[in-house]
Amino acid sequence: MSIDTMNTLLVTAGRNKKFGHGSVNTVIQRASSLVFDSVAAKKHATANRAKGELFYGRRGTLTHFSLQDAMVELEGGAGCALYPCGAAAVANSILSFVSAGDHILMTGAAYEPSQDFCKIILTDMNVATTFYDPMIGEEIAALIQPNTKVVFLESPSSVTMEVQDIPAMVKAIRRVNPEIVIMIDNTWAAGVLFKALDHDIDISIQAGTKYIVGHSDAMLGTAVSNSRCWDRLRERSYLMGQMVDADTAYVAARGLRTMGVRLKQHHESSVKIANWLSERPEVLRVNHPALPSCKGHEFFMRDFSGSNGLFSFILNRRLSDTELAEYLDNFHHFSMAYSWGGYESLILANQPEELNAIRPAGDVDFEGTLIRLHIGLENPEDLIQDLVDGFHRIG
Ligand SMILES: Cc1ncc(COP(=O)(O)O)c(C=O)c1O
Repeated sequence: MSIDTMNTLLVTAGRNKKFGHGSVNTVIQRASSLVFDSVAAKKHATANRAKGELFYGRRGTLTHFSLQDAMVELEGGAGCALYPCGAAAVANSILSFVSAGDHILMTGAAYEPSQDFCKIILTDMNVATTFYDPMIGEEIAALIQPNTKVVFLESPSSVTMEVQDIPAMVKAIRRVNPEIVIMIDNTWAAGVLFKALDHDIDISIQAGTKYIVGHSDAMLGTAVSNSRCWDRLRERSYLMGQMVDADTAYVAARGLRTMGVRLKQHHESSVKIANWLSERPEVLRVNHPALPSCKGHEFFMRDFSGSNGLFSFILNRRLSDTELAEYLDNFHHFSMAYSWGGYESLILANQPEELNAIRPAGDVDFEGTLIRLHIGLENPEDLIQDLVDGFHRIG
């Protein structure tokens, strides 16, 4: 599905009379207690508490059900679990499928807290992690052990943006052991630019904090699961107390309505700026999945229907601390902040040794400073001028 054809579904998904009560958007139903009219009604709600019946706030209200239905319509699958943030979605999805003595495979270029979760929490639980090279492809099969329960993908990788050959990886994993639960941090694709469940991935996780919410003002995690894993993911996440408030669920559902047009603009502007950067003498390499210079670009062209505003580039030299501060402190349109996916442009820097420390394989193959950009919805010409001024500061 292209970004354009997805737009109708983004407008309609999860919207119906039951959730809207006559309004265009879903109602905001804030509730802990949900009142039963009779013993029979309570019995019915209890029996159907996992099937969209109002039961107790932690199981969700109409606002949550509307968002969950929308996510399932968009990503496919049997259900969508909601979490207070993306990190919670990652942690609880993994926790739902491992126990002491198990082993998981995690991409060595995953979002840093996902890696730390494995190194700290899973290690304490006696669950072992092998970090693999994101470009490993079908050779991932050789890393599977008899006790491997989960393979975790993230594509493109955090910061360095490698795009994984997911069809080859999934095929190889299923050939060795079809029972393994394959999950992906699908945040970069906003769940729609890469249709994970169509590629036989079991669980598609997102930090809804990014493009779904889209305005940098709320935090959310989502995990859309196929039918094979849904009951277990839902019940275990529920037992671990995972839920989000109704106001955030509302804001997220509202964000979906404009996500297609926002993504399209982020894509157009970021490709324009990435191409411009690739011509600059100060730049060694641009890591934008839509550009041939990005590792795995061919997989991006094959498997994705578009890109967004997040990419990185590598300067052809390492900036000193003073140069870096002079460079970063003086942008007009790019703000320095963690996160991405909002309407605003952001900039962050990583020195190669900092990246090496969070790449277990120690495979960072450049010596210059890496700059990560999130291209927002501003006029790209204004952003380019800001970047020109930045290059002058370090020239
Ligand atoms: C790829 C990726 N996954 C997960 C997360 C975590 O999301 P949250 O900040 O909502 O916990 C982030 C946050 O930056 C991210 O970039």
